Amino acid sequence: QLDQTLAAIAAADTPEAVEAIRVAALGKQGWVSALLKTLGQMSPEERQVQGPAIHAAREGVTAALADRKAALESAALEARLVAETVDLSLPAPEVPRGSIHPVSQVMEELAEIFADLGFAVASGPEIEDDWHNFTALNMPETHPARAMHDTFYFPDTDAKGRSMLLRTHTSPVQIRSMIAQGAPIRIIAPGRVYRSDSDATHTPMFHQIEGLVIDKGIHLGHLKWTLETFLKAFFERDDIVLRLRPSYFPFTEPSVEVDVGYTVINGKRVVGGGGDVENGGWMEVLGSGMVNRKVIEFGGLDPDEWQGFAFGTGVDRLAMLKYGMDDLRAFFDGDARWLSHYGFGA
Ligand code: PHE
Repeated sequence: QLDQTLAAIAAADTPEAVEAIRVAALGKQGWVSALLKTLGQMSPEERQVQGPAIHAAREGVTAALADRKAALESAALEARLVAETVDLSLPAPEVPRGSIHPVSQVMEELAEIFADLGFAVASGPEIEDDWHNFTALNMPETHPARAMHDTFYFPDTDAKGRSMLLRTHTSPVQIRSMIAQGAPIRIIAPGRVYRSDSDATHTPMFHQIEGLVIDKGIHLGHLKWTLETFLKAFFERDDIVLRLRPSYFPFTEPSVEVDVGYTVINGKRVVGGGGDVENGGWMEVLGSGMVNRKVIEFGGLDPDEWQGFAFGTGVDRLAMLKYGMDDLRAFFDGDARWLSHYGFGA
C-alpha cells in the first residue's frame, strides 16, 4: 500500500489530487492512521518491529506529499512567468502629448526677446486697487477714460478705503516698479487683465504685456527703435514696417498708437511689408508713448531728472497674428483639436 501511495503521489498533477491522496493516507480514515491505531493492541515485541516500520511509512508519505506539492507549485509559478512575459519589442501605445499653450509660448518668446534688450520681467497683482490701476496713471476718479475700461469692481474697499478691482491693463505694474525699485528701470510685465466685454475679438480675461523704460534723456526715438526691434524679432521678418499715429492715453504724453504693415497673400493678412502699397494695409498692434510727468511723480521720481517710455500690447492678438488664428475665444476653450490644428500639442 505504501508503494501504491508513493506511485499515486508521483503521478498526481494538481494540488487537489495531492490533497486527496493525503486524506486517503494520513486523514482520520486513512490507511496510515488505521495502522497507527493497531499499535495499541500489539504485544511489546511485535510493536518493536511494527512501530518503526509504520512510522517510517508515515514519514515517507508525508515527505513525498510535501515534495510533490512544492514541485507542482514551482511548475505553476514557472508557467505563470512564461505567460506573463513582457514583449519589449512591441511598439508602445501612443499617449497624447501636452504642449505649451500658444499664449504662454508667445509670452515666453517676448520675455526672451526683451531679455536680449536688457529688460527684466516684473509682475503685479491681478486683484488691484483703484489707485494703482487708475489714479496713479493720471486717471482721477472723474476721468472719462475710466468709463472706457469696463471694469470689474469688488463690492468692498481695501484697508486704505480704495476700491478693489480686477486690473484692466498691465500699466499699474509701471507704478509698482517705480515705487519698488526707483530708477533706472527697464522691465516688461506680461500677465492677465480683465474687462467686462465679450465677442469674437474680446474675452473678459485676456493677456497684455507692458513695457517700461525709465532713464535719463529717453526720447521717442528710443521707443521707436525698441518697438521695431522687438516686432522684427517676434514676427521673424526684417521687412516689418511701422506706422506711428498720434493718440491719447492719460498716462503717456505724447501718446502713440503703433500699426504694423501687412500684405495680403492668398486672401490672408501676413505681417510684413504692406502698409500703403497695393494689397496691403495697417493693423494696430500696440499703444505707447512717453511716460507722463504726472505718472513719474506718482511713482515717486522727479520728472525733471527721469524720463521714459511705456508701451502695452495684447499678447493674444500678437499670437493670433503670428499663428494665423482667427477667433480669440478659441484660445480659452481648451479644445485640443483646435490647438493641434495650429501645430500645438498632439
Ligand atoms: N494700458 C493701455 C491699454 O490697455 C496700453 C498702453 C500701455 C498705452 C502703456 C500706453 C502706454 O490700452
